[in-house]
Formats: sequence, C-alpha cells, structure tokens
Amino acid sequence: MWQYNNPVNIIFGEKKINEIQKITEKKKYILITSDFIFKEYLNEILNSINAPQLIYSKINPNPDYEDLILLMDFLSKINFHNIDFILAIGGGSVMDSAKVIAAFKDNKKLLTDFIKRNKPPLIYDPIDLITVPTTSGSSSELTCWATIWDKASNKKFSLSHTKLYPKTAIIDPTLLLNKPKQLTISTGLDALSHSMESIWNINANPISAFHGIQGARLVLENLPMLANDLNNLELRTNLALACIHAGLAFSNTKTAISHNISYPITLEFGIQHGIACSFSLPFIMRSMKGINEIAEQRLKKIFNNDLDVSSVLLLNKLRSLGVPLNLNELNITKQKWDLIVSESFDGERGKNFLGNKEAFDKACKEMSVF
Ligand SMILES: NC(=O)c1ccc[n+]([C@@H]2O[C@H](COP(=O)([O-])OP(=O)(O)OC[C@H]3O[C@@H](n4cnc5c(N)ncnc54)[C@H](O)[C@@H]3O)[C@@H](O)[C@H]2O)c1
Ligand SMILES: [Fe+2]
Repeated sequence: MWQYNNPVNIIFGEKKINEIQKITEKKKYILITSDFIFKEYLNEILNSINAPQLIYSKINPNPDYEDLILLMDFLSKINFHNIDFILAIGGGSVMDSAKVIAAFKDNKKLLTDFIKRNKPPLIYDPIDLITVPTTSGSSSELTCWATIWDKASNKKFSLSHTKLYPKTAIIDPTLLLNKPKQLTISTGLDALSHSMESIWNINANPISAFHGIQGARLVLENLPMLANDLNNLELRTNLALACIHAGLAFSNTKTAISHNISYPITLEFGIQHGIACSFSLPFIMRSMKGINEIAEQRLKKIFNNDLDVSSVLLLNKLRSLGVPLNLNELNITKQKWDLIVSESFDGERGKNFLGNKEAFDKACKEMSVF
C-alpha cells in the first residue's frame, strides 16, 4: 500500500515570471526576497505588477532564528487578515523564510516556543504562498516544510505542515542564468542528494522513486556541462527540470542519512549545504548493495550499472565538480566523523534510511573516506 500527493501548481518555462502580473492582479500580498535578487530582477518585475503591501529584501542564506525575529518585527505593521498571499522570489532561504511567516505571521512567541522551548509548532490557517525559485536546488517551492537554523544552539529545525505546500510555483529557467559557478554546483548537488535520498528511503513509493531516478540522472548528465557553460539556457532548463523531479520525489519521502550527516558539517565547518549533503552519496550508494532489493534495482537505473561500479562513477563525477571526498579534504578528524555518523543514524532523518551503519562504515573504508 502506498500514497502519493503533491498539490503544488507548477508553471514552467522561459519568461514565465511574467505570470506574476496575472496572479497579483487585485490582490494584497507581501513580497519576500533577498538583496541580490531584488537588485537584479525586481525593478523589472515591480514595473509590471500590482504593487505589494510590503517588500522585505534582507533574507540571508540559511534563515536563522534571529533573522526571522527581525523579519517578524518588520512585518508587525501588516494586518495579516487583509493579506491574500506571500510572494517569495529567491532561493531556498527566501522560500523557507516565507513559509515561517506563512505559518506564524508576526507571532514571535510561536516561533520562539518552537525553536527555543522545544514545543511542537502551532500552525493555524497558514497564509497562501506563491514561490518563484532563483536556484535549482532546494525544491522548497514543491515541499511543505522549511528549515530553520539556530546558530546559537548549533541546531537545525524542520517546520512542517501539509498546508505549507505553496499554491503555485513559477519556475522560469531564465532567472537562473546569472547564478555563479559555485552556487550552481552546490544547489545542483542538493537536488542530486534529494533525488537519491528519496530512493534509499523507508517512505519511497513507485512514483517518488520514478522522480528520484529522473532527478538524479538529469543532474548527473547536465551539471558537469553547466558548470563550464553557465549561461547555457538548455542546460539551465534541464537542471530546473531535475530540481522539479527531485522535489516531487522527496516531498513524499523526506530526506535521509546524507542530510543528517550534512547538518553538523554545515553548522560547525561552514561547508555549503549542497556540498555537505552530497559528498557522502557514493559511500551510501555502495552501502546499499544487497540491503534492499527494490531500492537497489532503482539505484542501478541511475548509471545502468551495479552499485560497486555506480558508486565509483558517482565519486568521479563529484570529484570533477570539486567536491571534497575524504576527511582530509573536509578537514574533519576521524573522531569527529565517527560521532557525526553515529548521531546521524540515530537522528530522525537517519531513521528514514533503508540501509545500516555497518554497511555504511564498510563502504566508507572501501572508498577511502578516512
Ligand atoms: N524547504 C525545503 O524543502 C528545503 C530543502 C533543501 C534545502 N532547504 C534550505 O534552503 C537553503 C538553501 O537554499 P539555496 O541552496 O537555494 O540557496 P540560498 O537561498 O541560501 O541562496 C544562497 C545565495 O545565493 C543567492 N542567490 C539566490 N539566487 C541567485 C541567483 N539566481 N543568482 C545569484 N545569486 C543568487 C542568495 O541571495 C544567497 O546569497 C538552506 O537553508 C536549506 O536548509 C530547504
Ligand atoms: Fe537539501
């Protein structure tokens, strides 16, 4: 028995950003974005749309509790009863911040109870969200959760509610053309990780797995070429498609062990999310050999090869993209690594993983991680 659901309306194509004009007509909405996006595109966009009630353009990468409190302070002048939706134009950090506001409005107590007082999040009647991603990576435009970081306590939290699925995602590959090389690589690898994590996942089903395989194949075929041809619209379009497949896959499964391993590596070692959650993929892939027949068959479809060969092909692809692949390159001690891995297997996302620690440790040894 399985169930699949993803209720987001996807509008895809070149210059589809212009659809915002129709969507905002006669509507009251808040615009949330980041400085870079604001300077780059917003003048053009704002000239052609019904003006928002308020614009907030100060979203920083990886939304932190303190940043979100500032955002709530800024929005306290708004009467949320009059707001039809929040328009989020930006990367995962912008869309996740918008989801926090959709859930809690300007109620700092609700956010603080959740992040600082260990209480379950109280979400009543969230505001609708319209998302316009400017990265091909997080797929936050297709999921019903947001990551909130709390640097003060070195923790990350996941805010999740079925009503936090955006109503509409406008995915326009022309918005992705200016993305710098490192951001292109790290966000593309985040989409690869979401795709693969959805396959070795206890929540996988045939539909999520179909999208997971497609997403992984599209990233692996297109990202290495795109990294050397950043303004190629066809390759950008393929990455945007890969990111949709990844989103449709992991929106139904959540992530698994590579994401749990990544969080302390980002928080304590400052390694970008997409790199931190992808360097372990070859070892995890190899560790799935003989563990779960269905997942193994699905993983073999990515490279049309067995998992010993596939894991080496994947390692080589990641190496060609400049990803660090052993503890030396990551600057992590073996002792720290052992602690991160043990805690990751015990964590919530680690428990989504179909494999086991023994096979993972063996694969790491075989592939010279330490
Ligand atoms: N909700 C989810 O389902 C989900 C899934 C994965 C990751 N995340 C979260 O998303 C965040 C990462 O998002 P991201 O990888 O999209 O990056 P990001 O949103 O953090 O953006 C990174 C930087 O790139 C800039 N940027 C964005 N678009 C650009 C463009 N087109 N050109 C040039 N610069 C641009 C931003 O201004 C920012 O400085 C993390 O906080 C992660 O935890 C959420
Ligand atoms: Fe991710």
